[in-house]
Amino acid sequence: MPDTLTITDNRTGKTYEIPIEFNTVRAMDFRQMKVDESDFGMMTYDPAFMNTASVKSRITYIDGDKGILQYRGYPIEQLAENSTSFLEVAYLLLHGDLPNTKQLDEWRTNIKLHTFVHENIKKLMEAFRYDAHPMGMFISTISALSTFYPEAKDVLKPEVRRKQIYRLIGKVPTIAAFAYRHSKGMPYVYPDNELTYAGNFLNMMFKIGETRYKPHPVLEHALTVLFILHADHEQNCSTNTMRSIGSSHIDPFSACAGAAAALWGPLHGGANEAVLRMLDEIGSKSKVPEIIKDVKEGKRKLMGFGHRVYKNYDPRAKVIKKLAYEVFEVTGKNPKLDLALELERIALEDDYFVKRKLYPNVDFYSGLIYEAMGFPMDFFPVLFAIPRTAGWLAHWEEHLMDPEQKIARPRQIYLGPTERKWIPLDQRK
Ligand code: SDX
Repeated sequence: MPDTLTITDNRTGKTYEIPIEFNTVRAMDFRQMKVDESDFGMMTYDPAFMNTASVKSRITYIDGDKGILQYRGYPIEQLAENSTSFLEVAYLLLHGDLPNTKQLDEWRTNIKLHTFVHENIKKLMEAFRYDAHPMGMFISTISALSTFYPEAKDVLKPEVRRKQIYRLIGKVPTIAAFAYRHSKGMPYVYPDNELTYAGNFLNMMFKIGETRYKPHPVLEHALTVLFILHADHEQNCSTNTMRSIGSSHIDPFSACAGAAAALWGPLHGGANEAVLRMLDEIGSKSKVPEIIKDVKEGKRKLMGFGHRVYKNYDPRAKVIKKLAYEVFEVTGKNPKLDLALELERIALEDDYFVKRKLYPNVDFYSGLIYEAMGFPMDFFPVLFAIPRTAGWLAHWEEHLMDPEQKIARPRQIYLGPTERKWIPLDQRK
């Protein structure tokens, strides 16, 4: 049987043969379907891209029904279990293969050369109020980086892209930590390039009087795993934003700021903060049935549950749940864990959630670990954005190099008023 669709347009009786490739059809193949010569031609309509592939990608594979997540073919469980460094996984996402020793050393060195930020960034941070949301500071400062590196607009030059990739992966932890220190009224801590990516981030966040900050190995490892788990997730809202902004050939700093803004939404990367606020609001197990009732009546969503793609347990949530116990050994158990476990237990038994295939996602448990490690709640989306910068950059570059891609500019179904005449002000109702 041929790989085609045979479509009959019953308005005209005409029949069309549409080729099928990768189990998809090209929307442009519908444009030929017209009722008469004046007809623009047929389009497809898919709000929120529920069933539309807008790109071809080789970076991350997800099977939502089976709960499978792979970066360049490597299962997320194996990366979380075996990789000892976030930068090794960032290399994998950006280059397509795990680095050998020489490649990893070179990659690390190049990124470490770009962990510092221009001193003016500190002055920029001072402009924010003491209680500015760190994600707002993060987004604004990432965008401001584009003014320090005007050459970054030369996005079609490989060597220019490479340097901005080093700069962004190197600087996002520094900018994030500076935002935190600003909110605490504490002096900024400069990067210590002898430490690992996660270790240096903890250093810039939590160093106080000690001459040299030594990260706790269990917490450093936990943060490395969390960074690995959050590094990429194919065409999620923020990555789609990165690709769309990048398609206009603006610099990657401006594109990253847009992607981070999309990530901040409570339906996306802002959910980890929303989960903890929901747990605080619930307060005790006795209130869980009431919350579940509100959710089932459509009054609110159960934050940290559900996913556009996963109709099974998010594989990342499984790893995070296990990691939580390792962290709590060191920090002491987060009292909200039992509440979260009870919420999950009840939800997974309840038909409302089972029928809609709503399972805990990456955000349901991550906040419990972050809070136990001493990060404030409003900082959680920033902890998501730091590692996801590597994923955004991998997709940004793949999009620029894709010969099939052009500037992103969707069509619309226009339902507004038809042409009408101007009405002078004194004649309007
Ligand atoms: C991330 O895309 C990615 O990959 C994202 C991410 C990544 O790594 O980049 O995985 C990270 O963003 C994880 C998701 C974090 N967000 C949340 O935890 C917020 C709560 N979740 C929901 O808002 C929702 O599940 C979404 C946004 C995640 C997905 O929404 P969809 O795919 O648009 O699903 P939907 O809203 O159409 O829901 C289908 C049904 C609806 O019920 P009915 O109208 O059919 O009766 O399920 C219900 C929804 O009301 N539903 C929920 C629910 N999520 C969906 N009901 C209660 N609580 C929820 N959390």
